[in-house]
Amino acid sequence: MNYSIAVIPGDGIGPEIITEAKKVLDKIGNNFGHKFQYTEVLMGGVSIDATGVPLTDEALETAKKSDSVLLGAVGGNVGQSNWYSLPPNLRPEAGLLAIRKGLGLFANLRPAVLFDELKSACPLKDEIIGKGFDFVVVRELTGGLYFGDRKTFEENGLRKAIDTLVYDENEIRRIAKWAFEIAGKRNKKVCSVDKANVIDTSRLWRQVVKEVSADYPDIELTDMLVDNCAMQIVKDPKQFDVILTENMFGDILSDEASMVTGSIGMLASASLGDTKLGLYEPSHGSAPDIAGQNKANPIATILSAAMMLRYSFDLTEEADSIENAVKTVLKKGYRTIDIMSEGNTLVGTKEMGDYIVAEL
Ligand code: IPM
Ligand code: MG
Repeated sequence: MNYSIAVIPGDGIGPEIITEAKKVLDKIGNNFGHKFQYTEVLMGGVSIDATGVPLTDEALETAKKSDSVLLGAVGGNVGQSNWYSLPPNLRPEAGLLAIRKGLGLFANLRPAVLFDELKSACPLKDEIIGKGFDFVVVRELTGGLYFGDRKTFEENGLRKAIDTLVYDENEIRRIAKWAFEIAGKRNKKVCSVDKANVIDTSRLWRQVVKEVSADYPDIELTDMLVDNCAMQIVKDPKQFDVILTENMFGDILSDEASMVTGSIGMLASASLGDTKLGLYEPSHGSAPDIAGQNKANPIATILSAAMMLRYSFDLTEEADSIENAVKTVLKKGYRTIDIMSEGNTLVGTKEMGDYIVAEL
């Protein structure tokens, strides 16, 4: 089969890690008889430099027309880069929000898996880790505070700012369905996270999620307040299977979730909507301080490409093959600097890509 992939290298380490992911995809193409056709799309800081805006209409159109989108990372150093003296709607991150909204990608899946080989990188105590943990944060991605009206103004000589947190029941229902569907393919537990003791959107969220759960009698639903959830992720991450939550809470909890695995450089993510078109990106950022130094870990991007094969193209065997190759390379002791520990072999971005390709 032929698949067209819009590739967004982006900023910082983005181009390096994308190069490795493409190497892996090309090898998969050879092995399984597929052709992946890449169209490069500008987004983020590089797009600002070239066009004045973080995502042009043409770039969005190209992404819309493709079968799927693979993204490296966008953004620069907030303190140093000129991009951050621009108005907020013209900064690199605005491109990311615009492509999520423009492609209707309301469901963001962020797995938090403790890889056996990397247990020593986990910051939690052994008795907490136990036999390891494996959960996924399902984050609503196109609503809530990120997309509500906002303004900064002056009133009676006082500077004020307002952000609006809005959800309607349809937005809640569709992401809740995703969470239950995913739980059905995993350990059949959804923990819906909100702040229903204080805010109205959360009270509505809780009601609607409960209604949706009626259609999924074999999935266990629990509710948890977001502050408690932040604590439970470090206290007992094993308790979670699927964490379902709104945009802002999901942003925060997914960073925490990836940190407790000790290997943010390993975690992939997928953003999906009502069609097969998805956006796949590593959970980490653009790491401008190590950009261009062959130090970045390409595994999260390579595993994102595997998620793309699995979710957008239904190429299960191909996706498994990438994931197994990654595991084998880790078993053989190859490590980039972020996951390096004593007794293993330190390798760069490019070498890590080569070792993974060699296992395919
Ligand atoms: C993420 C990032 C983005 C977000 C930023 C860069 C806008 O933190 O993907 O989690 O908040 O969604
Ligand atoms: Mg974030």
